[in-house]
Amino acid sequence: MDQSSTPLFTALRRHAERNPLQFHIPGHKKGRGSDEEFREFLGENALSIDLINIAPLDDLHQPAGVIDEAQKLAAEAFGADYTFFSVQGTSGAIMTMILSVCSPGDKIIVPRNVHKSVLSAIIFAGARPVFVSPVRDGNLGIDHGITTSAVRRALERHPDAKAVLVINPTYFGVCANLREIVDLVHSYDIPVLVDEAHGVLIHFHDELPISAMQAGADMAATSVHKLGGSMTQSSILNVKGTRVNPHRIQTIFSMLTTTSTSYLLLASLDTARRNLALNGRAMAEHAISLARYARREINAIPGLYCFGDDILGGEATYSYDPTKITIHVRHLGITGYDVENWLREKHRIEVELSDMYNILALITPGDTKETVDALLQALREMSETFYQVNEAKELVVKIPEIPQLSLTPRDAFYAETESVPLAESAGRIIAEFIYVYPPGIPILLPGEVISQANIDYILDHLHVGLPVKGPEDPSLNCVKVIVEETPIS
Ligand SMILES: Cc1ncc(COP(=O)(O)O)c(C=O)c1O
Repeated sequence: MDQSSTPLFTALRRHAERNPLQFHIPGHKKGRGSDEEFREFLGENALSIDLINIAPLDDLHQPAGVIDEAQKLAAEAFGADYTFFSVQGTSGAIMTMILSVCSPGDKIIVPRNVHKSVLSAIIFAGARPVFVSPVRDGNLGIDHGITTSAVRRALERHPDAKAVLVINPTYFGVCANLREIVDLVHSYDIPVLVDEAHGVLIHFHDELPISAMQAGADMAATSVHKLGGSMTQSSILNVKGTRVNPHRIQTIFSMLTTTSTSYLLLASLDTARRNLALNGRAMAEHAISLARYARREINAIPGLYCFGDDILGGEATYSYDPTKITIHVRHLGITGYDVENWLREKHRIEVELSDMYNILALITPGDTKETVDALLQALREMSETFYQVNEAKELVVKIPEIPQLSLTPRDAFYAETESVPLAESAGRIIAEFIYVYPPGIPILLPGEVISQANIDYILDHLHVGLPVKGPEDPSLNCVKVIVEETPIS
């Protein structure tokens, strides 16, 4: 196939150049009906291809023309049998993966530290999650992925599971031995679904961890928008092999997707695929070498630590993506959240995320030596300001044990509920999600029994200003729990 072609983008450009007289939505009609400031800011080009699924432009819900061609090119570039474009991010692609293999009551083996879209899909499907504990890194205060041994134990107890979901790589870029996990799960003839939200570049460089498709996984939801150069919200779902049915996947995708799909997002996927197919290796090489330089320099700054090859060797730490720069800041005596704010206020630098002890900075093909040097300079100044001025923070990894799931998430979500003060909720079954965003990993999910450790963990996060979200009461004073039937006397 000709990876230098962009069937969808080219069709959009040609259509706009013909300058048709439009009597269809969007009503702004090439921007003329838009707000003037917005139109001028965005530019007429972008607005002229903000179109809809008229015949020459194909339809994402039943692609048979230029979208179909664009998806086939993407499948070839990503080593998949089929690729589906998502205009609802990797969240939409993850929900599609799960709903296409799980029916009500089916079991699915998932890491406990999954993104909330996995749990939303489990609620929609009425599936029963079998949780596997991720490996906790006591030195850094973060979770890695799940190991082959843990997946083996889960499969021995639940050989009737309908799927196993793996996160590869994690937000912090760490991977277990995915090929080994895939082979193990396939020996039970169960499909492997991969949350590859943070792994688009890994397809294009052999110094990066292997991708889901290279490892032989059945499906993978990949955020092209996060690191692959397409626009925010645009992702892909890659599919391979015969354990999953592409027609069913198309149907589910369609059920979950807006009928007004954004052609700007779709065109950005088409062009990002071209760029990655032609230049992905060089782009990844550029990011890797800048990240290596950044890591070396950061590790020379007093009070800072950025893990690299030294993390390898554990079952959960089989490989890592060096372009994700996790900076451990505990020795400065301030939290990761303080660092995030300090960098924003003093240097206009925005990082990807922060937690109690770390910040995460992403080095991407969009970086240059200058952008990396600006970060390094700010980090050096920060070290001079805080190191040995404050006392190092004690590393207390308080991530609570996995709560007991006493109802399926769906039953809890739809049960009769009442609101009680969070501080007094220990022992009750929660009916809503509580998660820290980013990264969107739930602390509690519907059906779990709230423990005092969960409450303390949430209060600690709120206390330092970390973004705890989810409950209907955004102040988190109260949470929704399942009404308990009291015996009638
Ligand atoms: C591990 C993981 N999975 C899935 C997602 C969802 O991706 P998206 O924001 O493209 O919907 C995220 C988002 O941050 C994530 O971190």
